[in-house]
Amino acid sequence: MIIIYLEKQKGELLMNNTISVLNQTVADLYTARIALHQLHWYMRGAGFMVWHPKMDKYMDAIDGTLDEMSERLITLGGQPYSTLTEFLQHSKIEELPGQFKSVEDSLARVIDIFSYLTELFQAGLDVTDEEGDDVTNGLYADAKGDFEKTIWMLSAELGLAPQLANKEA
Ligand SMILES: [Fe+2]
Repeated sequence: MIIIYLEKQKGELLMNNTISVLNQTVADLYTARIALHQLHWYMRGAGFMVWHPKMDKYMDAIDGTLDEMSERLITLGGQPYSTLTEFLQHSKIEELPGQFKSVEDSLARVIDIFSYLTELFQAGLDVTDEEGDDVTNGLYADAKGDFEKTIWMLSAELGLAPQLANKEA
């Protein structure tokens, strides 16, 4: 019993940075979700019929990742942010006022948000590598791959090469 207790203490100490990056991820994914809902409502012009519903799919994907990260955080003994005030206080994604935008400008904003998120996921990969948490590392690898693929698709729609974080384009 004593050995198990000591290992748990050690584990909690070692996982400090993992818990911290997971909570940053929770705050940012929630804020990203709200930003995408805003774009879903505020886009106008050519392409609306395609991209308005597509924002729903991206919100669903964000929700799925958010739930995974949050529940992993709890599994590791942490406490995820769970109020709008906490999300806003801790998120690094800047909120913008609701303003009608072209589809093109809306997609560019999604690319910006997703690029930030992939940089954050890379930080999650680095931290979980250092702290030896393969499970959380796997979550970040999956999330980074999914969001990078979406960045590629959105960039292609805008006639651009994908500008992936941590890579020279
Ligand atoms: Fe809707």
